[in-house]
Amino acid sequence: MSNLIKVNNDNDVAIITIDNPPVNALGPGVAEGIWAAIDEINRDPAVKAAIVIGAGRTFVAGADIKEFGKMTSGGPRRSLLPLLLHIEDSAKPVVMAIHGQAFGGGLELAMAGHYRVASPAAQVGQPEVNLGIIPGAAGTQRLPRLIGVAKAVEMCAGGKPVSAREAAALGLIDRLIDGDLRAGAVAFAREVASKPAPRARERTEKLGTAAENAAILTSARAVASKKQRGLKAPLAAIDAVEAATKLPFEEGCQVEAKLFTECLFSDQSKALIHVFFGEREVAKIPDIPKETPVLPVNRAAVVGSGTMGGGIAMVFANAGIPVLLKDVDEAALDLGMSKIRKNYANSVQRGRFTQTFVDERLQLITPVLNYNAFSEVDMVVEAVFEGMTLKKTVFADLDRACRKGAILASNTSTLSIDEIASATSRPEAVIGTHFFSPANVMRLLEIVRGKKSSKEVIATCMQLSKKLGKIGVLVGNCRGFVGNRMFGPYRREAQFLVEEGAGVEAVDQALVEFGNAMGPLATGDLAGLDVGWRIRKEYRHLEKPGIRQPFAEDRLCEMGRYGQKTVRGWYCYDENRRPSPDPELPAMVRNWSAEAGIPQRKISAEEIVDRCIYALVNEGARILEEGYALRAVDIDIIYLNGYGFPAYRGGPMWHADTVGLQKVYERVCEFHQQHGELWAPAPLLKRLAEAGKTFAEFDKEQVAAA
Ligand code: 3HC
Ligand code: NAI
Repeated sequence: MSNLIKVNNDNDVAIITIDNPPVNALGPGVAEGIWAAIDEINRDPAVKAAIVIGAGRTFVAGADIKEFGKMTSGGPRRSLLPLLLHIEDSAKPVVMAIHGQAFGGGLELAMAGHYRVASPAAQVGQPEVNLGIIPGAAGTQRLPRLIGVAKAVEMCAGGKPVSAREAAALGLIDRLIDGDLRAGAVAFAREVASKPAPRARERTEKLGTAAENAAILTSARAVASKKQRGLKAPLAAIDAVEAATKLPFEEGCQVEAKLFTECLFSDQSKALIHVFFGEREVAKIPDIPKETPVLPVNRAAVVGSGTMGGGIAMVFANAGIPVLLKDVDEAALDLGMSKIRKNYANSVQRGRFTQTFVDERLQLITPVLNYNAFSEVDMVVEAVFEGMTLKKTVFADLDRACRKGAILASNTSTLSIDEIASATSRPEAVIGTHFFSPANVMRLLEIVRGKKSSKEVIATCMQLSKKLGKIGVLVGNCRGFVGNRMFGPYRREAQFLVEEGAGVEAVDQALVEFGNAMGPLATGDLAGLDVGWRIRKEYRHLEKPGIRQPFAEDRLCEMGRYGQKTVRGWYCYDENRRPSPDPELPAMVRNWSAEAGIPQRKISAEEIVDRCIYALVNEGARILEEGYALRAVDIDIIYLNGYGFPAYRGGPMWHADTVGLQKVYERVCEFHQQHGELWAPAPLLKRLAEAGKTFAEFDKEQVAAA
């Protein structure tokens, strides 16, 4: 028997325990162990029934995702299907006892049991689509038989888990067990020991009629095409569930297996698996070990109740952390609090939060006009106007007001954390926490490491990001940090393209078709074109003479066209902020370009994408080499969570690897020749391309060297 599976008897009930930390993934040895355990219970005359339970924090988080990479690079193919049939065919009833999660292969395993019981806090789901695959162990076949086609399609194509309570209502869980799950499951097994064991694969009563299913499947395909635009797996999952409605179980499994394999070998799946591990990798900081002590953050404060400060206060409150919210006067504070209330009210209206939840959260936010109570807080996030003099004044005030040991964080998007820290007597406590707008929605948190930020402060912010529902990525202190520094060249190219003759909508459309949530010009209108305009004016003295700079947005701003907030920018906006093309804009831009001597030409969608995306990649490579991002994957995670880059392309650096760095490098060289110095290839890109390597290999080498 594999040591990952243990069998103990509680009198006439066998307890099969899966013990494969950390999450009992069905990796090598686990399936074999369960197979042997099923044989053993069937051989043992003293055993009347069995339970299968997970050791540690969860039941089973699914197939071992690490194995997929081995399979797609020529390793042996492993299928759980034979094991699941073996369990279902067991002569003695098998009860699956679920706590934590039964996800993916974990839920498929559970559905092969004759019964399922669960702790009320457990979750079950088929999240495979998030990895670009579909359930591959009959999940698409057993689930509709147990809960009906509509919900099965929703779970397999949407990938969202459901609570044990909902699963019980759906008929997927036979009993919820309060208290000791193991004891409850054993008692349940004893109750059913002498009954004929039901097999999910033999059930058909919930499979619905052809007409009902046609409507469900059509609507599911429409939802998937809209909500998971560009992603192939959800449509494949729907096809597989459809097979369950039309074919006998075994044939349905064959359809599922074929679709699963197609998905598994796709670039989308490789990218999404990269994202899965990447999201966990970014938490690992080479010089900050896991054991680094973290500081408690039980009370927080935010300075500035504007767009960002209000959102950040909500983030703390949503995580249950009481927060002071300071502004300069009653009027500013009232405005800030009213926006927070409005924001929460919208969430209630959309069904995201209950009124009770919102009332509790609002109780946690205390508006204040001075620093008196700041001596009590563990962490402050400053979010006042962007300006060094003001930030330094605020940090000097915080230095006086806050107790020793409190973390002093700035939400600045462009200013040096080191210079801000110099206004305090404790630069080790100062750090950047760069939230993205809207702070209460966007998942990304760039954590900016100052020269003197202490390891404890960094470790605390990294850990806190998880508690706040964010994904924290540690970045270095350079202008724009990682995300915005790369966004500069990306948006610069979008403007250049328009100045060279591409249509505004054509530029945005090409990047939306590439998979981005929004086009670069529409994004500018959303954020406000004046933000970049002001920054450019401030830094103009740093621009090297003779280097082409975009001018179109400056001209738009000079005309008062700041984007959505002024109803005009790249587009015109109606009262509901719906954009429409501005018929006057093309001629206007053509005139400006003529004045600047920029020849007009026809520009393909391919060039639009290459110019914008490779501008990101080239700058990303510089950032990586300069050490402002720890790994290429960190850049990917930043772009996926802060900038609407399509997850199924894995992030800009992974996308470049997928295209092939040689090809990317050649294209960058071409642009360099055509457009000059701004396109000088990053030395790291050149080196990797010439060596036939990838950014992912660069990451591995860095990790090995650390
Ligand atoms: N395979 C391999 N490793 C896994 C894993 C899996 N299925 N699930 C989690 N892990 C690893 C993580 O990489 C992480 O490793 P690390 O500590 O070295 O970084 C560790 O387990 C802990 O994971 P988390 O940090 O995510 O822990 P949480 O407690 O925050 O979350 C979880 C636990 C909710 C189970 C979450 O890990 C999760 O959602 N896992 C993936 C679930 C999933 O996608 N399952 C489907 C797999 S595909 C499949 O089953 C195909 C089948 O149809 C054939
Ligand atoms: P904002 O203009 O909406 O709000 C700033 C608030 O700070 C105002 O309410 C103002 O009254 C208040 N304030 C000014 N001086 C103060 C003081 N001494 N004490 C207390 N409050 C004071 O600005 P926004 O957009 O929220 O930006 C705040 C910070 O966040 C800036 O550093 C900005 O660069 C950064 N940021 C902004 C993003 C955005 O999309 N708006 C995104 C990420 C970062």
